[in-house]
Order: sequence, then C-alpha cells, then structure tokens
Amino acid sequence: MNGEGKISRAGADQGDGDPREVSVRPAVAADRGAVLDFCANTWPGGDYIPYVWEDWLNDARGRLLAADLGGRAVGIAHVQRLADGSAWLEGLRVDPAVRRRGIARLLTQASLDAARELAGRGAIARLMVSERNAVSRHLVERSGFRLERRSWLMEREAVNDGGAPADEHSSAAEAARALGAPRREDEPPQEDPLAGLELARVPEAEAARLAGLLRDDPPASLLPVRPGLVWEWAWVSLHPAGLTDLAGQGVLWTARRRGMLAAVAALGRSGPDDDLLLAPLAGTALLLAALARGWPGAGAPQWLSILDTPEDGELARRAGFHAGNRSHGQLIYAQVL
Ligand SMILES: CC(C)(COP(=O)(O)OP(=O)(O)OC[C@H]1O[C@@H](n2cnc3c(N)ncnc32)[C@H](O)[C@@H]1OP(=O)(O)O)[C@@H](O)C(=O)NCCC(=O)NCCS
Repeated sequence: MNGEGKISRAGADQGDGDPREVSVRPAVAADRGAVLDFCANTWPGGDYIPYVWEDWLNDARGRLLAADLGGRAVGIAHVQRLADGSAWLEGLRVDPAVRRRGIARLLTQASLDAARELAGRGAIARLMVSERNAVSRHLVERSGFRLERRSWLMEREAVNDGGAPADEHSSAAEAARALGAPRREDEPPQEDPLAGLELARVPEAEAARLAGLLRDDPPASLLPVRPGLVWEWAWVSLHPAGLTDLAGQGVLWTARRRGMLAAVAALGRSGPDDDLLLAPLAGTALLLAALARGWPGAGAPQWLSILDTPEDGELARRAGFHAGNRSHGQLIYAQVL
C-alpha cells in the first residue's frame, strides 16, 4: 500500500446513477468522529475501536487504513508488524450504510499490501475471526488466507475476588486456600495439585531465554509446549520477541514445583471489564488447571484462552471453564505474503 492516494476502485455505486470511487488511504485524526459513529453498533455490546483508536493511529509498527468515499471515512483496517516478524491484520470495519459493495475486500487487499511493506515478502500474515462471523470467514478465505488453527475463549463464574495484591513470588497453594478453590462434585479428591507450586512473573530480560528453552529443549515437566497463545485478540507465537512482548506487559508467568519449571502462561487483566484472562503456553493440564483455580492475590481467572486440542479441552474442563454464551471459537488464518 503506497501511502496516500487512490489505489483502487471499489465499484461503489450509490444507486443514483452517480458511481463514486472508494479509495484507501492512511487514516487521519479527523476520521475519528465518522469511524466511531459507524462502529457504535458493530456488535451488540458496542465495539473496542474507541479504545484502540489513538494507539492505532499513532502506531509506529503498523498502519491504520481508511476507506474513503467522497472525503468521508467509511471503513478501516489496522495492520502491524508483530515482534516475531509476522504481520497481524485486525479491526476491519465497514460503515453499515455502504456494506456489500466490495469495500472490505478492497481494505483487505490494501492491508495485505501494507503487511508486505511492513513485514517483507515471504513473511506470514495472520488474522483472527470469530467462527460465528460467516461473512468474514468467507472474505478472508477468498482473500487467500488458510485456516491455521482454532482457539477457544472459555468462561467461568468468578469464584472470589478476595486476596492480597499479586506478589512477584507466592505460594499458589496458599492462594488457592484463600480463594476457596472449588472442586467439581463429580471429581474424586486427589493430591492438591497446587502444593509446593511457586509462581513468578517472568522479567522482560529473561523472556527470550525462556522462549529458547521452550522451543529447543523443554524439560519433560513442561510438556506439552503449545506453538503460541491467543492474547488480547491476537496470536502470540512461541518466539523470543513474542514472549518478550508479553513479559514487557507484565503478563508472562512461570510456575515451578520443587525447583522444576512446571507451567508457563500469560495471565492478566483484559477487555473492557478488566476480567482476568489465563492463556497457557506450556505445562500439563493438571497444573494449569490448578493455576486457573487460584492465581495469587488476583482472584480466579474468568476467562481461559486455549488452543483447540484435546489436552487443552481437558484443562478447561478440570478448571471449571465451559463454552458459555459469551464463549466462542476463534479461527486463526494465515497466508504467506
Ligand atoms: C465484515 C465486513 C467488514 C464486510 O464488509 P463489506 O464491505 O460489506 O464486504 P464486501 O462488500 O467487501 O464483501 C466481501 C465478501 O463478503 C460477502 N458478503 C458481505 N456481506 C455479506 C452478507 N451480509 N451476507 C453474505 N455475504 C456477504 C460479499 O458478497 C463478498 O463476497 P464475494 O467477494 O465472494 O462476492 C462488514 O460486514 C463489517 O464491518 N462487519 C462488522 C465487523 C466485522 O465483522 N469485521 C470483521 C471481523 S473483525
């Protein structure tokens, strides 16, 4: 995508015999009002675009594109180069008043051009859509993306909000007791999986080394290692830069048992309601399920982001998460640029 100017014609026809051209250009601050207006009812609960608008507009690693019709923004798309060298496409929106005229298709092509400029030819571009979004799935499949993997965002009732503020090092067993970690009624009593588990936030400077260990030589105690995780609506691959990014946000945690690494996960507040979200990266289902029941001081996670594997499904079940009304499958699509 070559910065300013008209790049293509979308064939938008206003139906009044006055065909107008739609072009794609970088979004500008003055587009804010129009964009937030047409995004007001994207989903039943609104949209997250107002919360990310400033960041996306001023994003040094990415570009916010606008579809322009007669000087008015009628669509947007954001693309960025992720720390692992891949490109990430997100936030595709078209004004409901001008949908079904090829504008999303135009924005997607422009996003792919921008991705190629940002990440380089041969890099991988990814995006994620809800499996319920049939229109988007059709659009991305027609635009050359192939389904790479599926993840699930599972929910559960909050157990308890109590507890002291999160500590850098603390005993999960104590936390679990403090939180009154629940046991499913049909589950036989077993050894407390939290016993002796020490949790620690991963410092940014150590994240790259941890990624190398997970990729090249994971101890048996850390298996299975997942290829990445979905965090805040984006795919984070198991890559030094990806984990450094998570650690920089303060959301990458390890759990050790008798000195051995036992689990690695992202955990932190997420979304408009600041709910606690857990996304496992490595470790057994049992340990991760235990973590999900009682993170120190932070309350129990309400959301669990897992990959669509039998192991992680079991993890979710053991931890009391389920696919409720607000849960859904998330499809991660990819294509080589
Ligand atoms: C999804 C969305 C961006 C599509 O925008 P659009 O400009 O109407 O899409 P286009 O006109 O470019 O159409 C793209 C394709 O989807 C099809 N399509 C679009 N809307 C459709 C609908 N309501 N029903 C069936 N097919 C539809 C088009 O026919 C076209 O397919 P084709 O290329 O095979 O002919 C728009 O509906 C939107 O903003 N939705 C809400 C936000 C969203 O879902 N964003 C994407 C995921 S984050």
